[in-house]
Amino acid sequence: MTASLASLVPAAPPHHSVAAVAAQLPGAQVRGPADAIVSGLTLSSNRVQPGDLFAALPGLKTHGARYAAAAIAEGAAAVLTDTEGAPAVPDGVPMVVVDAVRSRLGALSAWFYGHPAEDLVVVGVTGTNGKTTVAHMVQAALAEQMGLVGLLGTIMVAVGDVHIASQRTTLEAPELQAAFAAMRERGVAACVMEVSSHAIDQHRVDGFQFDVAAFTNLSRDHLDYHGTMDAYFQAKAALFTPDHAKQAVINLEDAWGATLARLATVPTVTMSQDAGADWRLRPGAPSRGHTAFTLDGPAGAHLAGAVDIPGDYNVTNAALALLVAVHAGAEPAAAAQGIARLPGVPGRMEKVPGPVHAPMVVVDYAHTPESVAQVLAALRPHTKGRLIAVVGAGGDRDLGKRPLMGAAAATGADLVYVTDDNPRSESPAAIRATVFEGASRAMRHHGPAQGQVFEVAERAEAIEQAIAAAGPDDTVAILGKGHETTIDYSGILVEHSDRAVAQAALDKARGVGL
Ligand SMILES: Nc1ncnc2c1ncn2[C@@H]1O[C@H](COP(=O)(O)OP(=O)(O)O)[C@@H](O)[C@H]1O
Ligand SMILES: [Mg+2]
Repeated sequence: MTASLASLVPAAPPHHSVAAVAAQLPGAQVRGPADAIVSGLTLSSNRVQPGDLFAALPGLKTHGARYAAAAIAEGAAAVLTDTEGAPAVPDGVPMVVVDAVRSRLGALSAWFYGHPAEDLVVVGVTGTNGKTTVAHMVQAALAEQMGLVGLLGTIMVAVGDVHIASQRTTLEAPELQAAFAAMRERGVAACVMEVSSHAIDQHRVDGFQFDVAAFTNLSRDHLDYHGTMDAYFQAKAALFTPDHAKQAVINLEDAWGATLARLATVPTVTMSQDAGADWRLRPGAPSRGHTAFTLDGPAGAHLAGAVDIPGDYNVTNAALALLVAVHAGAEPAAAAQGIARLPGVPGRMEKVPGPVHAPMVVVDYAHTPESVAQVLAALRPHTKGRLIAVVGAGGDRDLGKRPLMGAAAATGADLVYVTDDNPRSESPAAIRATVFEGASRAMRHHGPAQGQVFEVAERAEAIEQAIAAAGPDDTVAILGKGHETTIDYSGILVEHSDRAVAQAALDKARGVGL
């Protein structure tokens, strides 16, 4: 994945005068030449293209206006900022000044690129866990019939054969609308995207309506940002209003889903394995990681599908994806075929191939207590021997979930290796200590008699030790980083792929005639 986001802009860029931009923003003032022309929009100074309007927003740590001079030097033709930022913009630069810029940037970006989402079928997937998996499944379902379908999510931004590694789950509004405009230009019929709670709260998905908005589930995460579960829920619930969506498909797996279905103010269909939902999911018996399922709906409607990715929760993900694709206009059988053919999602229940007598090794992105529990529960039926987990927790994120991550691993596995994930600016040892504490306490209370918790600082070493300790009947679950290819130590990105390290360890085992 070498292309950059700068390549995902329309070949025929829009041209707007600074005055026309200001006219879109009630209360805005223009300073400098109002007839200056801008042909692109961005809020990241390191992505400025010649002719761009640079949106300089107040940030958590600093104000974007500090980068206005650099943006102009890179070719930006004008600056959009607020009264706080205006003094930092060099004299004579065409400028639009308006307050609360971030809350207006979504609608402005949609207008700027000519409302491209109106010419695409756009699907948005939100929820604590399952966004990436469901989005990949919906893309596969729609592509079966619609051909080129764009995908915007945690792992990548993909349009046809252009694949760009993502820096965040949901793009900022200018990049998002530019991507939609590029898709429209290239004849893409539909786009599926993950919508994080941060993105909704920061107005990144303002200015257009999703044809279908989907909800997977809600559990503890991101409380460092939202503070409370209720605020976290409210942030996501905003997606299920006419400002953001035309219709909704809601999984009733947890109580939050039921609350959302009651509060949603758009036409809504619900799904559950229990009676009472519009669509009743009935999973078949899993065999070798393949599971068929049926959905019974209103007025005798019936859908059938299958998924080739292990884990009960992936049957729920696949069923939700099928319902979403059908409500987005796909033909049911074609959509089901697309999902059934999906070989997997990178870093989600991804098996690492090894020699015959080697342990089963799986890489998964589980990074919440809920998903750690789900993944281990899904792997237990496929494990004759011991279940071994490698787990850590991210720095500069929700502190309270760390001991819970350790506890979930120790409750679901027989052996636990606590190691680094992405310490970011925090002390790796301090993070490991809280995860280790949570795991040890749980292992003492719930774990098997022989249950053990180890702490191995270096992640590659932890993976090698776990695989070396595992026998042919055991399973090793490497959790938390999934598709990631680096470890963030205080902003220094060290190359690391769980998949590659595990592969090398298995190949080494292959070398000693196992
Ligand atoms: N429906 C689900 N319920 C609970 N856990 C899930 C579900 N789907 C996936 N997971 C777990 O959460 C992890 C993240 O899944 P992913 O699809 O990447 O979700 P997200 O994009 O919301 O982070 C997976 O690796 C898996 O362990
Ligand atoms: Mg994701």
